[in-house]
Amino acid sequence: MSLNQDKLNEMLHRGINDFGATFHAALVTIGDKLGLYKGLAAGGPQTPAELAKRTGTTERYVREWGAAQAAGGYVSLDPSTGRYFLSEEQAFTLADENSPAFLPGAFQVALAATKAVPRLIEAFRTGEGMGWHEHDHELFHGTERFFRPGYAAHLVAEWIPALTGIEARLKQGARVADVGCGHGASTVLMAQAYPKSTFVGFDYHDGSIQTARARAREAGVMDRVDFEVARAKDYPGTGYDLVTFFDCLHDMGDPVGASRHVLSTLSREGSWMIVEPFANDRVEDNLNPIGRVFYSASTLLCTPASLSQEVGLALGAQAGEKRMKDVVTSGGFTRFRRATETPFNLIYEARP
Ligand SMILES: C[S@@+](CC[C@H](N)C(=O)[O-])C[C@H]1O[C@@H](n2cnc3c(N)ncnc32)[C@H](O)[C@@H]1O
Repeated sequence: MSLNQDKLNEMLHRGINDFGATFHAALVTIGDKLGLYKGLAAGGPQTPAELAKRTGTTERYVREWGAAQAAGGYVSLDPSTGRYFLSEEQAFTLADENSPAFLPGAFQVALAATKAVPRLIEAFRTGEGMGWHEHDHELFHGTERFFRPGYAAHLVAEWIPALTGIEARLKQGARVADVGCGHGASTVLMAQAYPKSTFVGFDYHDGSIQTARARAREAGVMDRVDFEVARAKDYPGTGYDLVTFFDCLHDMGDPVGASRHVLSTLSREGSWMIVEPFANDRVEDNLNPIGRVFYSASTLLCTPASLSQEVGLALGAQAGEKRMKDVVTSGGFTRFRRATETPFNLIYEARP
């Protein structure tokens, strides 16, 4: 055996980093749920005792949490005073729920996904699927908190204007179906931006639809937004000007069947906007930190979700543009293009 010491050290560093990161996901979620980050952001430099008092927690736990967070670079420590604080960048990513770079939702998703590991070990053997609705409920809330800031930053400002003539129609008054809408973050954002249009959000998961209705009530857009339990292959209505699928087409068992149904519900001049995780066509071109996140989420969430439904095509979260075009055109659409993109998302437009 001839181990290369440098490569071995590199591998060990990688492992230690990820070992710490795996624990760290739990600590981020604890800090988020107990308001420790927000307490630090609001109160400035604090000892663990001061932060514990402010957040109604126990000093001994907060002290240990603070040290772990400082070791991970998520919280800063002033060793001369023993006080912890957040830099501007730490506060922007950890304490500001509306920041486009808010991170705790992502960790909430990852932690919730790990709860499915025992079942997925079995699924790897049997090939069975696991529906989105069967996961720990934290997944649904984490997904909403993780995705919403990105939608708030890009959807109305960039993605809709990148579609063919859709922005003008939305301003005048259009009919929109948001399919696989989850907690309705995208639906509500569109309804707030285009008050003359009407929106209906569909999802097969009843619990998500109930939360989406509550979100629409809180946002005061119930006059133009409706949410209904329905599947992508048979949701009701026809003549929609815009149908949207946010981060869900690849989760479906029969995306070709969904495409066929979207086509039958869209007006002749309408557009189907498909938002998918950013991906290149070839696996070797996705081997980077973002690809790792998406392939991992795809293994634990998206692939089992698709395998749990009819057909079980299991596109995966890194299908890439070529594969997506195949799926969408197999459903009967004649025009398909990449309308725009961000480092995290590809935004496709399909037209009849
Ligand atoms: C990753 S989540 C995205 C949720 C939401 N669009 C968002 O961006 O926050 C995928 C969603 O697709 C829904 N879904 C999966 N298969 C579906 C199907 N066949 N018909 C309708 N909804 C489906 C799930 O219930 C889940 O809410």
